[in-house]
Amino acid sequence: MSEQSLVHVSREDRIATVTIQRPEKLNALNPQVIDELGKAFRELRSDDEIRVVILTGAGEKAFVAGADIGVLAEMNPLSGVEVSRQGQVVFREIETFPRPVIAAVGGYALGGGCELALACHLRIASENARFGLPEVGLGIIPGYGGTIRLARLVGLGKALELTLTGGQVGAEEAERLGLVNAVVPREALLERAREMAGRIARNGPVAIQMALESIYHALDSTTAEALTHESSLFGILASTDDMKEGMGAFLEKRKPTFRGQ
Ligand code: COA
Repeated sequence: MSEQSLVHVSREDRIATVTIQRPEKLNALNPQVIDELGKAFRELRSDDEIRVVILTGAGEKAFVAGADIGVLAEMNPLSGVEVSRQGQVVFREIETFPRPVIAAVGGYALGGGCELALACHLRIASENARFGLPEVGLGIIPGYGGTIRLARLVGLGKALELTLTGGQVGAEEAERLGLVNAVVPREALLERAREMAGRIARNGPVAIQMALESIYHALDSTTAEALTHESSLFGILASTDDMKEGMGAFLEKRKPTFRGQ
C-alpha cells in the first residue's frame, strides 16, 4: 500500500495552494514532507497556467513547527549534513521559483517552519502566528538557510538575537520587524493570501518573473553587476507581448490581458 500523501496541491484561478498536511504533528518536516514539497514545486514550475503559489500548513495551530525532532535525534555527522542539504535544496527551489510564493502562516512557524517561510517571497501571518528559531536549545543550529535568510530580511541585530536566544516573536512583532508582510485574523488568512496573489496575478507574468530574478540576483552581486543585470532584464521585457499589451492598454484606457509572453 502506498503511504499517505503529506503535501496537497490545489489550483484555482491561476493560483496554486500547496498545503502541508501533517497537523497531528504540527506539520513537522519529516523526509517525506520535504520530498513531496520538492516534487510539488517542481511540478508547478512547469505549469505555465499558475501565476502565484500559496504555501500553507493544515490545521489551526501551526504553519510548520520545525524539522521532525524524532528524525533529527537519530542524526550522525554524515547524515546530518545530508538532512540539512536535502532541506536546503528544496527550500532553494522555492526561493528560486520563477513565480511568487506566498507563505500563509497560521500558527507556529518554528525552526524549519520559520526557515520555510523565509524561503518564500512573501509572508502573511494569522494573529496567533509565532516565529522563532529554537534550534540552539536542541544543541543544533538552523540548517535550512535560517542563518542566512533571517538576517537578510530583518537585519543582523534582530537575527542574531532570535537565533542566539532561541526566542519567539508573535505576529505583530514579526510585522514590525518586516518578517511578515501582513497580519490578519486566523479565519481570514487564506482569503487574504488569495487576495494578494490575485493582485500579483493581474500583472505582467514575465515582468513579475524578471522582478524576482533581479531582486534575488542583486543579493549576491555587487551594485554595478546587479545594475547591469537589471538593465538586461529591462531590455528583454521590451521584446515581450506583455509589454506591448500593458502599455497599449494604458494608452487605450482599458485593462490589460497578459498572456505571459
Ligand atoms: N518534530 C516532531 N514532532 C513535533 C514537532 C517537531 N518539530 N513539533 C510538534 N511535534 C509533535 C509533538 O511531539 C506532538 O506529538 P504527539 O501528540 O505524538 O506527542 C504533536 O506534534 C503536538 O505538539 P505538542 O507539543 O503536543 O503541542 P503544544 O501545543 O503543546 O506545543 C509547540 C506546541 C510548537 C510549542 C511544541 O510542539 C514544540 O515546541 N515543538 C517543537 C518546536 C521546535 O523546537 N522546532 C524546531 C525543530 S529544529
